[in-house]
Amino acid sequence: MKESQGKTVYLRDYRVPDFLIDDTQLIVELFETQTLVSARLKMRRNPAAQTPQAPLVLSGRALELLEVKLAGKVLAGSDYQVDAEQLTIAGVPASFMLECRTRIKPQENTSLEGLYKSRVMFCTQCEAEGFRKITYYLDRPDVLSSFTTRIEAEKLRYPVLLSNGNLLASGELGGGRHFATWQDPFKKPCYLFALVAGDLENISDSFTTSSGRKVELKIFVEAKDLDKCDFAMDALKRAMRWDEQVYGREYDLDIFMIVAVDDFNMGAMENKGLNIFNSSCVLAKPETSTDFSFARIESIVAHEYFHNWSGNRVTCRDWFQLSLKEGFTVFRDAEFSADMGSRAVNRIEDVGMLRTVQFAEDSGPMAHSVRPESYMEISNFYTVTIYEKGAEVVRMIANLLGKELFRKGTDLYFSRFDGMAVTTEDFVQCMETVSGINLTQFRRWYSQAGTPELTVSRDYDAKQRRFTLTIKQQCPPTPRQPDKEPFYIPVTVALLDSNGQELPLQLGADDGQATSKVLRLTDAEQQFTFINIPEAPVPALLRGFSAPVKLQCDYTREELSFLMSHERDGFVRWEAGQQLSLAVLNEGMQARLAGQPVTVDPVLITAFGSVLQAALVDVNADKAMLANLLLLPPEAYLAELAVPADVEGIHAVREQLRRQLAHELADLFAQVYHANVSNESYRYEARAIAGRTLKNTALNYLMLLEDPHWFAIAKQQYDSATNMTDQSAALRALVNNPCAANQSLRETLVAAFYQQWQHETLVVEQWLSLQSAAPVPGNLPAVQQLIKHEAFDLRNPNKVRSVIGAFCNSNLIGFHAGDGSGYRFLADYVIKLNASNPQIASRQLTPLTRWRKYDTTRQALMKVELRRVMAEPKLSPDVFEIVSKSLQD
Ligand code: TRP
Ligand code: ZN
Repeated sequence: MKESQGKTVYLRDYRVPDFLIDDTQLIVELFETQTLVSARLKMRRNPAAQTPQAPLVLSGRALELLEVKLAGKVLAGSDYQVDAEQLTIAGVPASFMLECRTRIKPQENTSLEGLYKSRVMFCTQCEAEGFRKITYYLDRPDVLSSFTTRIEAEKLRYPVLLSNGNLLASGELGGGRHFATWQDPFKKPCYLFALVAGDLENISDSFTTSSGRKVELKIFVEAKDLDKCDFAMDALKRAMRWDEQVYGREYDLDIFMIVAVDDFNMGAMENKGLNIFNSSCVLAKPETSTDFSFARIESIVAHEYFHNWSGNRVTCRDWFQLSLKEGFTVFRDAEFSADMGSRAVNRIEDVGMLRTVQFAEDSGPMAHSVRPESYMEISNFYTVTIYEKGAEVVRMIANLLGKELFRKGTDLYFSRFDGMAVTTEDFVQCMETVSGINLTQFRRWYSQAGTPELTVSRDYDAKQRRFTLTIKQQCPPTPRQPDKEPFYIPVTVALLDSNGQELPLQLGADDGQATSKVLRLTDAEQQFTFINIPEAPVPALLRGFSAPVKLQCDYTREELSFLMSHERDGFVRWEAGQQLSLAVLNEGMQARLAGQPVTVDPVLITAFGSVLQAALVDVNADKAMLANLLLLPPEAYLAELAVPADVEGIHAVREQLRRQLAHELADLFAQVYHANVSNESYRYEARAIAGRTLKNTALNYLMLLEDPHWFAIAKQQYDSATNMTDQSAALRALVNNPCAANQSLRETLVAAFYQQWQHETLVVEQWLSLQSAAPVPGNLPAVQQLIKHEAFDLRNPNKVRSVIGAFCNSNLIGFHAGDGSGYRFLADYVIKLNASNPQIASRQLTPLTRWRKYDTTRQALMKVELRRVMAEPKLSPDVFEIVSKSLQD
């Protein structure tokens, strides 16, 4: 058991640092068996701290301290204390130079935090608290320092030496070694420090900022990947322009670099001037990458670039403020993606993710607010709540203020706090200052966890021509927050007449004639009465998903299918379809439990039929939107909605419904498939993407006919595909719909795919996850075979995510196998990963923590595995926090 295990950090305990570091000079000498780090820190007592007697306490972990000098004098062992976490020196003067020499072993660092080796290169990951694994330091985001970094390494193996900022000097050293010195002109917290050394190639380009400064852009990769950088470079330039146009933010250094590494715990990292990316989040070419990964790359490249202002120039005071940079930056990248492609489809996909993954987190044992009150291990708080819900909170503010005031607010925020480490409160105050809008109640979105639940009822008074919406809100308890105060919830509504026309909305006689209105829900229950309403309307509620809430309204199925075909707002339209499917699915699950036959309401068949018709005849239709309308709610979402979740029922009834839709609408699916086959060469462009999405959605349904004709067509698509989107979609369609009739074809193509792509790591990852995620009961043995496959590597996070993550998160029926085998499998690997990479171990554990969602038999099986993990002797703080919190009542 680690000493720090079980220690909780509280927001309310925040104190300013006792010391500041004005300047940091590092010399990093890289060798094959060790690295020597020399740090010269120009330090002084923090005038704001008023703790003149406080000892100097620096964080350090897994460091071997070789020498400490204070003001030029070597300290004796009795002058300081050092333990596994800290270096403490008492009686230091008001200002001084501190020099530390330490030895580290990046080659042995499997945690991928601090300085480590990814295959053949050295790289770093310092956020959140990894810098302390490089040298003793004040490893907290409110200590900003200027950095000069000299890297020394063997020239042949590591010809490229990079760090933040500008290259000051470089040259030869004796013995086949060389050096490079980088200086970052901007002060920054150490979590933004980065260093890379390796045999890297690069593509380079340039960008001229709006004020006419020329910036050099470089993407560094291993030689094998040089052909996959162009798309990211293009996305980067578009992001740079967009941030100038939309936020008035210009890039501030003369060079911007991206490095791709194969071993990385997360997606990417915004280190100042030197972003480091998981190669899966930056490398793409049509032959190896799907439309999905192109989109992901575009948004992550933009996300990390946008951090240069929202995160780096203005940073976080402490890690409780993480959403200050992450929520805001996700909002920024989502808006960028919306401007680049289909706004409605981007929104639907983001909302779909939020509702399955974030809502589940919000109702589980790790539920926390956007600004948490406490944590044990900060790495566990890089969550969908901080990122995605945080972005929804910023979106609500942006909508409340409107475009112009929001821009004024962000301008004020960036100018007022440039070069500072601040809080979400500072952000909100800027928004209040520029707008005069009181956000007091709104602030509860930052402090209260849980997903608010809205219930809407309606009343139409034909005589008075009045339509009244009564909206109630409540929020279930979450750990340490039993009672919630009402939230400020913006509910955007429209009222449709029987022709689908929007009615003018007047809440009072002197109200305007707007056809879409934001209702401001502030109380536990509120009524909104619209006047001059000529007929009973169908309300379109929560347009644009105007708040991250669950909303219930007693729509009839006819009303839902009416909204699906008449509403203009993409989210409401899609949500109506989801609700309609949900009603049919629930009915089916009830019938199944009662031992009765499952029948499908023809209303749903008709609704899906008209979507397919629209795809064939409506030339203006957004085909990506239509493809989304053809998807039933995912199993994970159905599980999120029900307590207890009926694992077998969800899978069986959903599959049966898909099958029935395929049979009833076979001709339309076939026509839609053929109408969208294209022989144009691949382009990553909205219309082309939409066509492929729709075609491959149809193909998935057509597989369910179990017709040799359609298997042959899938094979033909596989064989003739010139891009990975179509090739992998054909393979996935077969793998996800296994039956005796396609068995030999399926097995042949699975093997052929590996043969063809075994040397492309990123494609192999897709191959692994496509098989592991296949929603097929009883496929655990196949997943275990993949773990034994030569392509698998437990040390590589992408491989872990592709096999273990894909199985446990995407294959509901496999992971929740009634005999508990899925749970045992996950616990086994969490225990293994706990020793090598705690961050990955604790992340993988998440599906086991959701035991309260399932029946008592499964609950017991899941808890057995959690307790087995809990009983491990050397549990990391990361895993300890998740497992202990998930076992608390
Ligand atoms: N700041 C990064 C981002 O969102 C997140 C990140 C990258 C990270 N690597 C990490 C967080 C390692 C924790 C640990 O862009
Ligand atoms: Zn981020």
